[in-house]
Amino acid sequence: MNKFLIQGGIPLKGEVKISGAKNSALPILCSSILAEDKCRYLNIPNLKDVSTMIKVLETLGAKVSKDHDNTIIVDPSGIALYEAPYDLVKTMRASILVLGPLIAKYKKARISLPGGCAIGVRPIDQHLKGLAKMGAHIEMSHGYVLASTKGLKGARIVFDKPTVGGTENIMMAATMAEGKTIIEGAAKEPEIADLADVLNKMGAKIKGAGEATIIIEGVKKLSKATHTIIPDRIEAGTFMVASAITKGNLTIKGARVDHILSIIEKLRGMGVVVNEIGKKTLIVDGNNELKPIDVETAPFPGFPTDMQAQTTALACIADGVSSITENIFENRFMHVPELMRMGANLEEKGRTVLVRGVNRLQGATVMATDLRASASLVLAALNAKGTTEIRRIYHLDRGYENIDKKLLSLGARIERESGGL
Ligand code: EPZ
Repeated sequence: MNKFLIQGGIPLKGEVKISGAKNSALPILCSSILAEDKCRYLNIPNLKDVSTMIKVLETLGAKVSKDHDNTIIVDPSGIALYEAPYDLVKTMRASILVLGPLIAKYKKARISLPGGCAIGVRPIDQHLKGLAKMGAHIEMSHGYVLASTKGLKGARIVFDKPTVGGTENIMMAATMAEGKTIIEGAAKEPEIADLADVLNKMGAKIKGAGEATIIIEGVKKLSKATHTIIPDRIEAGTFMVASAITKGNLTIKGARVDHILSIIEKLRGMGVVVNEIGKKTLIVDGNNELKPIDVETAPFPGFPTDMQAQTTALACIADGVSSITENIFENRFMHVPELMRMGANLEEKGRTVLVRGVNRLQGATVMATDLRASASLVLAALNAKGTTEIRRIYHLDRGYENIDKKLLSLGARIERESGGL
């Protein structure tokens, strides 16, 4: 199940439904730790990272069941361990999001340090600094974070830079701290507001999620919640690029237009015709000549870093020179050498890649290195002349639900092969 074979050159046509957001599902699953009773989450995508998070919750002692395909029920009443072990955290760094809930509810936690990943060092200093400010005693020991407290107290937390995970960890911790917590310089990604919605349904008192300042009044207990998570804005953006890069015509359903305004803007800037039908449907027509574009990734509502690799792939066939600058992570250009194997004309200059458009890419054997780099290779392969073999596609399965099935339904020639590297 390790590689894709893709025959490029077919314009994708038809309708695709966007799945639930991976980066909403992961923190929201962690928030169940705070609940006094079973929580029911709908529209949860069937992803490797979600299965890993379920394993983390079960390791703590929670009971997790599936109602049907995309509904997950978590019963946190059996939680009796407050540890996230190295083997799980190393496969998915979002496991660090159990830290805030555990220390808030059980006053202690022992979490393996996530360590770096392919795209960067990804420290958690802001998470730990915030928790310490709220009265947690934080110690590093043998690769683990040991956190304990007599009881968290509300505090004013000022982040040095916006951090999605840091905002989520502190927000969850603050729900049961004594008194008021103010988070300044909070991340504004839509997944933060979705998490706050669930927490408020459980009885938390959170105001301002989605803005730079979030105010949380601590409460003694949080009850259960039923919640449908938001659609995946990065999956929506990825399929918009798929339409453009194959000169296709796709109807993208079940998105949230207000979550992808910066992506729509940039694609329109490249000459892609994007029609918004209400708040949840887009028709993306890729038949125009593609114009070059300048992109700088930024925290929300800026252009998302998680769309950088996919947009770079599209710029490879634009008619001119584009510049793509990655401002969030220090090593998020691993798709560049792989795209060059496919005939792309790319030049890395520090945090910027200069992209000189070519007429068409060429099929080649390439290797996926991380989730969004893999997506960019799939997109490039859908354009390329001939067949592309993409290896190590387990990276892709972490964050895209049934991407091969969805692409097949749109006319792509893609098959999953087992074995090989
Ligand atoms: C979340 O990661 C997402 N993951 C990432 O998506 C996304 O790329 C990222 O936010 C930025 O939008 C999930 O939500 C599960 P950050 P997170 O903390 O929370 C630095 C994907 O492809 N930083 O906002 O880890 C950090 O090194 C993944 O779906 C510190 O310096 O990102 C980075 O440069 C990849 N200290 C920047 O901030 C800290 O304590 C943004 O990181 C925390 C972060």
